[in-house]
Amino acid sequence: MNNLRQQFPILSQKINGQPLVYFDNAATAQKPQAVLDAINDFYTKYNSNVHRSFNPLGEKATQLYEEARQKVAQFINAKSAPEIIFTSGTTESINLVAQAWGQRNLKKGDRVVISIAEHHSNFVPWLQLKEEVGIEIDVIPLSNDYKLDIKKARTLLQQNNVKLLAITGCSNVLGEITNLQPLLDEARERGIVTLVDAAQLIAHEKIDVQKLGCDFLAFSGHKLFGPTGIGVLYARKELLEQMPAWQGGGEMIQEVHQDSFTVNELPHRFEAGTPNIAGAVGLGAAIDFVMENFDIIKKREQELTEYFLEKINQLDFIKLVGGQESKNRAPVFSFTIDGVHPHDAADILGERGIILRAGHHCAQPLHESLSLEATLRASLSFYNTTEEIDKFFKELTLVYKKFQ
Ligand SMILES: Cc1ncc(COP(=O)(O)O)c(C=O)c1O
Repeated sequence: MNNLRQQFPILSQKINGQPLVYFDNAATAQKPQAVLDAINDFYTKYNSNVHRSFNPLGEKATQLYEEARQKVAQFINAKSAPEIIFTSGTTESINLVAQAWGQRNLKKGDRVVISIAEHHSNFVPWLQLKEEVGIEIDVIPLSNDYKLDIKKARTLLQQNNVKLLAITGCSNVLGEITNLQPLLDEARERGIVTLVDAAQLIAHEKIDVQKLGCDFLAFSGHKLFGPTGIGVLYARKELLEQMPAWQGGGEMIQEVHQDSFTVNELPHRFEAGTPNIAGAVGLGAAIDFVMENFDIIKKREQELTEYFLEKINQLDFIKLVGGQESKNRAPVFSFTIDGVHPHDAADILGERGIILRAGHHCAQPLHESLSLEATLRASLSFYNTTEEIDKFFKELTLVYKKFQ
């Protein structure tokens, strides 16, 4: 374990003389040396544009970029690499679906089912289509244990005109991992297209898109120990083939004439312009890292989750916003503190080297549904330690006492 933590150079620094305690992994995870090296190597040895450059450097860059695509395909068990579209992140991936698939396939009165636990990036693109096209949005609520209300979800999916289920695989606030399979199965039986927002899930669970049977799946590289600015949209080939190109420009075309153009083959049709080549290479290195260490990552996260829950339950001035079960949960914990505003706590703890997040975490509808304005969120990764958790709760108790 220590060996793995040591592969993350940023974690050994101090902030204001205090060792860094990085508890903001749901916002973005830190990067191992292998990812930093892959990006550095790309720019120092192979930097060139892809696909159009018929020279040794361009060919190498293309090879590395396409190898990264293969790695992603293998990582999530897609049937083929052309089902992997590189985007700038989850947000762009979902917007691509909303625009390229949604604009063509959804009409006034059609229904899109989402959940109350969605991040804004799986809320707003559908609200935009509501404004532009007149679709209806149904929202699956939470049950008392902070899990999605599956019974209600089923009822919503059984309505007429439901065309899409777009749902998070893991809440970035509650840490709850969605029991996706029954929902996706129900949707598929009814001919409803499905999209999974795997922005959080991807770092915590093995994902098999063929087993899940989802049509689209979106994630970002930076939450998976990869670089920012690179993400993935997985889409079933049959759907991609029917979707019009999203953005126009270089790379996505086969031929352009004064008054017409023809589109490129998959997946390039959906990757207009020069892509984030170094980002894709860095993501490939991150995937290698995760695949090599998955069992340790999983075991460590489970231990940290159990430890964190045990500690938080000993403090009666803290209210956890999320389930108590340590299974089927990511180490993402949001909570409120009696008499202390989350922003004040985050500020003070930040000064002491403990980095966490305060606010609605881009999940304002969820906070509103729980009658909360803001929460404090500690989101851990496998490289965190029980000593860091102890320090965090000790400092948090001091903050609480200061405000009483
Ligand atoms: C569940 C979820 N979906 C989507 C996103 C958006 O990801 P990005 O900002 O990388 O596009 C996030 C980011 O926090 C998230 O947690």
